[in-house]
Amino acid sequence: MARLGKGDIVSIDDLATADIERIFDLADGFSASLERGEPLNLASGLIMATLFYEPSTRTRLSFESAMHRMGGAVISSADMHASSAAKGETLADTVRVVGAYADLIVLRHPSDGAARVAADYAPCAVINAGDGSREHPTQTLCDLYILRRKKGSLKGMTVAICGDLKLGRTVHSLIFALARFGANIVAVPYNGMKVPDYVLERIAAERNYGFSSVSMEELRSLAGGIDALYLTPSAPHQIALFTSSSEMPLQSAPPSIAAPAALDAFYLTRMQRERMVDKDGVKDAAPVRFGHFDARALKTSRTHDAVVMHPLPRTDELAFELDSDPRAVYFEQAAAGVPVRMALIAWLIEQSRGGMRPKPAAASIRFKSPPRCANANCISRHENAYIMARFRLGRSNDPSMLALTCDFCERELRIEFVGHARSHRYYHFEQNLYGYVRQWIEEGSLAVFESVKQAEEGGYEPYRRGPQREIMSAEDVAAACRAMAAQMVADLGDLAAVSLVGVVSHGAILAMRLRDLIEAETGVRPPCAALDVFGGEAALRSLDGAAPFEIGDRTIVLVDDVMNSGWTVQRAMNSLWHRGRPAAVKLAVLIDRGHRAVPIRPNYVGKNIPTARGERVQVRIAAEGSLRGKAADRVVIYSMLDTLKEEVAT
Ligand code: NCD
Repeated sequence: MARLGKGDIVSIDDLATADIERIFDLADGFSASLERGEPLNLASGLIMATLFYEPSTRTRLSFESAMHRMGGAVISSADMHASSAAKGETLADTVRVVGAYADLIVLRHPSDGAARVAADYAPCAVINAGDGSREHPTQTLCDLYILRRKKGSLKGMTVAICGDLKLGRTVHSLIFALARFGANIVAVPYNGMKVPDYVLERIAAERNYGFSSVSMEELRSLAGGIDALYLTPSAPHQIALFTSSSEMPLQSAPPSIAAPAALDAFYLTRMQRERMVDKDGVKDAAPVRFGHFDARALKTSRTHDAVVMHPLPRTDELAFELDSDPRAVYFEQAAAGVPVRMALIAWLIEQSRGGMRPKPAAASIRFKSPPRCANANCISRHENAYIMARFRLGRSNDPSMLALTCDFCERELRIEFVGHARSHRYYHFEQNLYGYVRQWIEEGSLAVFESVKQAEEGGYEPYRRGPQREIMSAEDVAAACRAMAAQMVADLGDLAAVSLVGVVSHGAILAMRLRDLIEAETGVRPPCAALDVFGGEAALRSLDGAAPFEIGDRTIVLVDDVMNSGWTVQRAMNSLWHRGRPAAVKLAVLIDRGHRAVPIRPNYVGKNIPTARGERVQVRIAAEGSLRGKAADRVVIYSMLDTLKEEVAT
């Protein structure tokens, strides 16, 4: 009986070039035996489970057909809304359970990095059949297989990849593969839908490869018959396209690569509308499309031999009239799904015979409390009850930020403040700290913060500070609160519709004080809640005992102690909007420093204190009834001294 080991395929890069070539050879054999109608039993005794959390026609059915054709069996959850996922089961639990029923799991999931998580938890092999906007390696196998069949060698061929290059997962896997096989890529994105940085950075770092984008207008002028289109080189592999063979390649092209005179393929994709959300998970408006691709694009001397590819489904980017054109190969790509996926399963069986070992995972940084991935669609944010966000050092070389790369979705997070977990000091990141940061990573003592506020809420002190100066006494704070409460009463109208939300921790204390002042003046006691901007889902807590705190249709006054860049306020606002639709949000801050990075102005301000960037305003304010209640409120200012001329204390 056939056996399958733990050979996961999460990315196209999990397959070596020789593996892909072997799979294609096997696929040729399976194509021939399918044509001859030969029965096969290579996979007899194996069970494949298809778990699809998103719609699919081709991928799921061709995987299932492949397994049936090889004599294996299939169990399927084609609609995960009809499975325990609908009851809130985690992906990890589902794949653990299903892994006990099957030898292979084929997974499609809407979150970026979901296949990585499934591979980590499933006891059997996991194949990624599309994870969010990240990768779709088996579609790429079908794409390359057809390209190779139509055009011969992949090396040196030129492929124009058009459409939604940002969210189209088939495109990302295809780019990784084409870069590896030495093909040339011309990217033709829809407006605003460029290839993401993490894809470009991976091929630059691992393959020393790069390419340029051309606009749709440039492509259109090409389609309209203007034959010559020159691209600006951006990286070692970039070459001049559509130059006639008599013309020389551009200067930076390596001499070993000749400029292609023509385009070998157009790879079109649809707009991934279902994935259009902004970084906070809110649905985005769809950007403008560039319209139909039709036979006119194939009329020039540079394009008339090009094949037209599409992973399907198409929406309206590809004219139906092309279907009968022999250069349209998208239905062949879809048909190749069966022999190619048969070949992949056969290859996995071969590998298991050879004692396949799972690849060792690259070590990630150990954080006591890891930062949140910047990508709202990352699996680490959707399944955060059990997944700890995981990061490696990133690739970008902005000297003023520490770059971290998410292990699940590869998106980069840029960190402005780093800390040492034992000394509890924090530092504004700069390039000279890099050596220390590496050392702290090794010791497991690196802490990172998105803001000074987060560092200080976590009990960290700046590494060095200048002498401090009091800018508000307890009386000043009390007077400022009274003035703010009076402004609010005068301005807010119907106080019965008003609720206060204070940002943890000083903002929450201020919110309670403002609430008490409003009550003393008007007799109305607005509901009050505390919001922890670093606290995930359970971060909004009513300060009125058990009473539920409502947001919908209320006028919310968001209260914080100091408005620095506005970053905290923005995060707090997003968090509120996720929880409900307030009628209005107003902002009250004790101190406005006046250099904000976001276009938000406070409505009620205790005191304006313009300060320099390197200065830090710190509010000490005592919670009523706390032991520290005796310590008088005060606001101080100090400068954060440049840290790094001298040795960094650890
Ligand atoms: C693609 C997918 O699901 O990513 N389809 C496929 O598998 N052939 C492309 C798409 O949905 O646009």
